[in-house]
Amino acid sequence: MKALIFATTALALTAATTAQASEELAKKHLCTTCHVVKGAKTIGPTYADVAKKYAGQKDAEARLAEKVKKGGTGVWGQVPMPPNAAVPDADIKALVKWILSVK
Ligand code: HEC
Repeated sequence: MKALIFATTALALTAATTAQASEELAKKHLCTTCHVVKGAKTIGPTYADVAKKYAGQKDAEARLAEKVKKGGTGVWGQVPMPPNAAVPDADIKALVKWILSVK
């Protein structure tokens, strides 16, 4: 019983830390200039909308990481996302993973 409580607490703590780290990462790399997590759309789509659109698509993570790195247009409208080439690959991966988990 004790072990179960411990495991659950540890899991909850890990989840909280990940979400926070990624929101901070989005701020650090200025993604938040054009994206909000949820609510009213700004320049780019909200991350909740992105997560909904790609829910259940296995290759979404790889495709979106590529898109964030190189930039692009045409999926959400005519406004382009500029390339984010200066953002380390590991950070892009972490960001995309987090974005896809937004509910
Ligand atoms: C200058 C504004 C701007 C910045 C900065 C920006 N984005 Fe975007 N982003 C956009 C726009 C506009 C779109 C929609 C592009 C389209 O319609 O294809 C978009 C689309 C996306 C998508 C969905 C792509 C798709 O094909 O569906 C993801 C994921 C994303 N951005 C993540 C990020 C991340 C992570 C960062 C920070 C590293 C970031 N964006 C920084 C403007 C921006």
